[in-house]
Amino acid sequence: MKKTRTLRIFAVAASLAAVGLFTAGTAVAAGDAAEGEKVYKKRCVACHTLEEGKNRVGPSLHGIFGRQAGLAPKYKYSKSYVSAGENGLEWTTETLLDYLADPKKYMREITGNKKAKSKMTFKLKKKEDREHVAAYLESLQ
Ligand code: HEC
Repeated sequence: MKKTRTLRIFAVAASLAAVGLFTAGTAVAAGDAAEGEKVYKKRCVACHTLEEGKNRVGPSLHGIFGRQAGLAPKYKYSKSYVSAGENGLEWTTETLLDYLADPKKYMREITGNKKAKSKMTFKLKKKEDREHVAAYLESLQ
């Protein structure tokens, strides 16, 4: 009796895990890296490069995907980026999708500081564009 129950719980956990993996898989597949490159070249290059150590108004985005926030060498970030990074903020598909929609709002929410600043005043409004650009940044890893 006890054994069947354990097995049943295991089966439920396994199917939940499968659903989780499936959803994560589709979220990643939603963006198209080639489209993302176009978005990047149109919307991001005014302030960012992908070259290591080369900052513009914004920090270099070299190696950004999967990395902790606030770590580009020689760049003077707003405090919120450094503290959010130290508290575990990493740039993944999920965090980029939220962040790029409204950087200041995102930093305020994630740090819990209503006065947190962000020097990135730009917002990438279209969800599709955010998905594409996240896929592009991921493809560079
Ligand atoms: C008008 C200039 C500007 C544009 C356009 C811009 N950014 Fe930014 N971005 C910044 C600045 C400035 C920061 C640093 C913010 C701070 O420290 O307050 C930043 C920070 C970031 C960060 C965090 C970097 C880190 O090391 O933690 C990411 C990710 C990012 N930008 C992605 C993008 C993407 C992708 C685009 C294009 C869709 C884009 N940005 C467009 C100015 C810009």
